[in-house]
Formats: sequence, structure tokens, C-alpha cells
Amino acid sequence: MDGGKLSAMCPPLTMTTTPRRYNITTFGCQMNKADSERMGGILDDMGLEWSEDPNQADVVVYNTCTIRDNAEQKVYSYLGKQAKRKHHSPDLTLIVAGCVAEQEGAKLLRRVPELDLVMGPQHANRLGDLLQQVDNGNQVVATEPIHIPEDISKPRRDSTVSAWVNVIYGCNERCTYCVVPSVRGKEQSRTPEAIRAEMEELGHQGYKEVTLLGQNIDAYGRDLPGSSESGRNKHNLTNLLDYVHDAPGIERIRFATSHPRYFNERLIRTCAELPKVCEHFHIPFQSGDNEVLKAMARGYTHQKYRRIIDKIRHYMPDASISADVIVGFPGETEEQFENTLKLVEDIGFDQLNTAAYSPRPNTPSAVWNNQLSEEVKSDRLQRLNRLVAVKAGERSQRYQGRIEEVLVEDRNPKDATQVMGRTRGNRLTFFTGDIQKLKGQFVRVKITEARAFSLTGEHY
Ligand code: SAH
Ligand code: SF4
Ligand code: F3S
Repeated sequence: MDGGKLSAMCPPLTMTTTPRRYNITTFGCQMNKADSERMGGILDDMGLEWSEDPNQADVVVYNTCTIRDNAEQKVYSYLGKQAKRKHHSPDLTLIVAGCVAEQEGAKLLRRVPELDLVMGPQHANRLGDLLQQVDNGNQVVATEPIHIPEDISKPRRDSTVSAWVNVIYGCNERCTYCVVPSVRGKEQSRTPEAIRAEMEELGHQGYKEVTLLGQNIDAYGRDLPGSSESGRNKHNLTNLLDYVHDAPGIERIRFATSHPRYFNERLIRTCAELPKVCEHFHIPFQSGDNEVLKAMARGYTHQKYRRIIDKIRHYMPDASISADVIVGFPGETEEQFENTLKLVEDIGFDQLNTAAYSPRPNTPSAVWNNQLSEEVKSDRLQRLNRLVAVKAGERSQRYQGRIEEVLVEDRNPKDATQVMGRTRGNRLTFFTGDIQKLKGQFVRVKITEARAFSLTGEHY
């Protein structure tokens, strides 16, 4: 992050009061990253300064994730250290935001009494008000469901090239393993006008790429007034893409996460027709077995999933496909697991996020009595991961010798003579170049080396 610019331009009038400094540590998904950027923007607006090191900061935020147990446990070890620090730095303000905050609520205060603020994801845009209450001497818990207000501050974005734009918050699905609906609440779509205005502003600031975000982005618009209209006036993802597509300056548009239950042909055709929409689709399938999919309450079969991928490849033969999958769901047999391996073998994903099932609080499948042992889960995860690496390696070979358009984002952290960026298909690509000149540029790169998950090439 490159904060602190404003205060460098306008030094405080007296040097006796140094501004308070803050740090935000972010766990979890893109939604949390986007929330952290907005919370950072609010703190910047309040005159605080960014500190790289949480141990030097006066306001410490942990924006947390609880998708699996190991994600949740991580935060407790961090919190323990900060709680100790507070004993000799009483001015330290300690905040837990995000999904663990929502899940645990006031229980967190009992576990870590040094906390000043526990705030769920729906409250991210209210950080300023909540800190005011803390300054008045209160310990605050903000986890009740609310209508998410539009954020009027300028997010403190991680990148100057590529930006997240939230389009829908929450999730109304009820996948039996998933904690997200209980921690992120009901679906709330932003208006097309607000989304487009944010994209225009980003284009104006020099951003080139936008990723539209939602836990179930295909649900976009169904909660907005007028969503029952037909055709072009209806609020849905396809019409949103049409509506925002010509935002000046933005050259690439991505979106995530798609749900196979709702992914339709009209959306696929629109993606193929709109030149800025990149040929990369993230469509989690979770399992390749129909019985398991049913127990997960996903609402589709593996045949339907395969048909979606076929349709995408029909309209965009080179599209890259990524997904999420869970192994070791309660009751999953060896044969059912092999159906997942078969799907992975058949589809040939460009990338796959794999996870062993983890029982989560307040989810139906957590209390079923057919849980599998950790040994079985980890054995299946390893077998799947081996296959994924082989298949991704094979998929990557198609890039060998090709010329790809790379949007340069940064220096290669491992080699200062190289820059890195992404192809339209979202493959991370490295090549020799000067970041000062190339940042934010589209560069034609000839691919000379194709590894499973990244490419190396030369400026063409
Ligand atoms: N909205 C997206 C993903 C949400 S969570 C979707 O519908 O697919 C991100 C990923 O975490 C999920 O796709 C799933 O693969 C994984 N996940 C969610 N709950 C899990 C659990 N209880 N155990 C293991 N992995 C889980
Ligand atoms: Fe979780 Fe299912 Fe919603 Fe995705 S669609 S966030 S997996 S409940
Ligand atoms: Fe984690 Fe919450 Fe995202 S649980 S995956 S940070 S929605």
C-alpha cells in the first residue's frame, strides 16, 4: 500500500502532535480485501497514517476469515500478542473486523477483554462512527444486520492498476457446509449507477482493470427494485456488464464468484461479445458427484456443470477456467471422491482451489454423524492436489510460444530486473522490464516458459 501521501503534502501545523498510525491485517477472500481497502480509506480520511508494522501502530485492525477452522484459529494467536502489548501501551485501539467478528460477536470480548471494537463485515463502511463510540470510552460490538451504506471515502487501494468493485454483498444460498450466509448476511446489491460511477472514477484515476465482486455474483440485482422487469431493464449480471462496459479508461473487466446454478448462456454470450470482459471464469463446483452435490444443497449436477464449461468453450475456445472444490465432505465415499478426480481430469482447470472439509459453526453438515477422519480428508486432498498440478501444467503448455497481452502490475518480488502482470486469462506472467516505465501498461509478451501456474516471456 502506498498511503501517507496526503500527510506528506500537508504536514501538521505543529510538530508536537504526531498523527495516530494504523495497520490492517487481512485474512480470507477478495471481499475481505475490498472491505479492508474501504476501512483504510475511512482511517485515512480521519487523519490517521498507515504503518507497515502492526506492532508500531496505535490502531490495529484484524479483518478476519472463518471459512475453515484453521483460518479462524490464525487470528487468535495474533490477537493474543496485541492484547499483551496493550497492557503497556494503553492507547492502543484493538479491533476485530470481518467474519470471525460476526460469528463470535460479544463472545470475543470475553475471550480477549482488551478488545475495543468487534465489527461484522456489514459494518465496514461505518468504521468512523464506531471509532467515535470507542473514543467516548465504550467497548463496542457491531454485528447486527444492517442496510450497508454507500462508502463516501476513497478506498486505500492496494494496487494502482487493478481494483475491486463490490456489486453484491451477502449470500442467500444455503450450501450445507458454508458459514458465509450467517456471517455476511442477506444479499444486498449496489445500484448499477453507483457501480458505474465507481468504475468511472477508477478509470479517471488511471486504473485499467476492475474485478466485480460478489459471493454469488450471479444473484446480482435480484433484491433491487424493478428486478422483476423483463429484458434489458431487468437487474441482473448480464445487464450490469452491458451497462458498465464502456466506463472510460477501464480496459479489462473480470467478475467473481459465479454459481453454476445460475450461470446461463445469455451471460456467456455477453462475455464473448463484450471486448473488455476477460476470458476467465471462476466457477466453483465443490464436488464431481451428484449425491454429494445434493447433500451440499448446491442445486446442480456434475452434468450441468460440464455443460456450462462446454458452452463457455464453444463461445470462447481459449477461456481459462478456475474453481473451488472440497474433499472429504461428510459421507463422501472413495467412489464419490473419484468422481471429483474424474471431473478434474476431464475439464482440465487452469487453476483449482482445493480444501479439506472443515465443520463450521451454525452450518447443517457440521453436526451430521457421518464425518470423515482427518487422515482420509488429508489423503484425498494430497491426491487431488497432485492431479491439479499435472493438469494445470498441461493447460499451461498452450501458452508456450504465444504472444499474450499482459497488464503490468508490479515488480517481480523475487527478481528486481523483472516485472509481473496478468494475461487476460489471469495467468501470472513475468518478463524483463523497467517497472517505472511499464506499470499500468499493456505489453505484448512472447511466452518462453510455461509452468503450471505462471509464465515467463519477453517483451515482444
Ligand atoms: N461463494 C463461493 C465461495 C465461497 S467460500 C461459492 O459459492 O462457491 C470459498 C470456498 O471455500 C468455497 O468455494 C469452498 O470451496 C470453500 N469452503 C467453504 N466452506 C468450507 C468448509 N466448511 N470446509 C472446507 N472448505 C470450505
Ligand atoms: Fe457459501 Fe454457497 Fe453462498 Fe458460496 S453460494 S458463499 S458456498 S452459501
Ligand atoms: Fe472468509 Fe468471510 Fe470471505 S469467511 S472467505 S472472509 S466471506
